[in-house]
Amino acid sequence: MGSKSGSLAGGRAALIVAGPLPQCVKAILEPQFELFVLPRPDAGLVTREIAGAARGAAVMGGAGAPFIEALPQLEIISSLGVGYDKVDVDAALAKNIVVTHTPDILNEEVADAAIGLLLNTLRELPRAEAFLREGRWLEGAFPLTRGTLRGRKVGIYGLGRIGQAIARRLDAFGVAVCYHNRKPVPDVSWHWEPTLLGLARSVDTLVCVVPGGPGTEHAVNAEILSALGTNGVLINIGRGSTVDEAALAHALRSGVILAAGLDVFEHEPRVPAELLDLPNACLLPHVGSSTIHTRHLMGELVARNLVNWFTEAKAVTPIPECAGPR
Ligand code: NAP
Ligand code: 8YV
Repeated sequence: MGSKSGSLAGGRAALIVAGPLPQCVKAILEPQFELFVLPRPDAGLVTREIAGAARGAAVMGGAGAPFIEALPQLEIISSLGVGYDKVDVDAALAKNIVVTHTPDILNEEVADAAIGLLLNTLRELPRAEAFLREGRWLEGAFPLTRGTLRGRKVGIYGLGRIGQAIARRLDAFGVAVCYHNRKPVPDVSWHWEPTLLGLARSVDTLVCVVPGGPGTEHAVNAEILSALGTNGVLINIGRGSTVDEAALAHALRSGVILAAGLDVFEHEPRVPAELLDLPNACLLPHVGSSTIHTRHLMGELVARNLVNWFTEAKAVTPIPECAGPR
């Protein structure tokens, strides 16, 4: 890999900037690189000139095999976001291309969003605000909610960087926390459950914050939902593919569980009509990290990965598959 990384000597390297990236990405890269700006990382938009020149790509929205294969000079894909399930890593590795992502800097923002989603789901705060705005308060008080955080036991599916930030917040709220990962996390006080089913059986609230991809696909299915019980609540702030949405809609409709809060969907931005119709589903348009503050930090890291690669032959935050000696 190191042999492909270039210096800027002898001309400016050419990069693609693809997708609705934060403005700082272009601002940081423009003085040092020749930029091809594309609306999205799409092979159909790669001209012969771009294919012949582009050695790096800043992307938001993934990078599929056709895009990667259309770029024979590509050395690095710098992807916005910590999750990189929409980047075809196998296609990149096959061409010795480094993939980078933006871990850690968004942990606290996404954990804040997870807690907000949990409270909105339980206490129905969006519905209470709509009630007030519709003038219905004049007719009587908003109904008491069945949902409450009091007395709950929360299971975190994916106690990684963001999962731990969520668990720390839940500790402060005075609720019990345990978790399931494939391996226990050393030096944490939260109880580890060796299986997801075991976790679901031992809690009434499941917070999913695992990566997408085949290892977690539809892991939250009818059996897991049923194990949460009739007071059960599902929160998903990881990836939509983790939850079997048809099974979830059935569980919400038939009272198998109490409620769900979702920030992510399997085929987003399309949301299944059966979920949209359910009053006990609190639905957000993938806004976990969506603040100007945090997206700016993520954008800076996207740019820094490219600058470091072309000046020091080293990416700052490669994905684990690209982090070892190559
Ligand atoms: P991370 O630090 O890599 O944590 C992921 C955790 O999931 C790890 O603890 C890992 O532990 C566990 N895990 C992975 N595969 C698993 C499996 N098959 N079964 C059980 N546990 C598994 O990642 P992070 O930075 O916390 O981010 C997590 C995910 O959140 C991202 O990949 C992204 O998809 C999502 N995300 C969403 C938003 C949003 O806006 N909604 C924002 C940021 C991130 P083991 O390896 O021990 O299993
Ligand atoms: C972003 C995310 O919204 O970091 C992630 O994995 O899901 C979010 O922070 C997304 O990556 C933007 O494409």
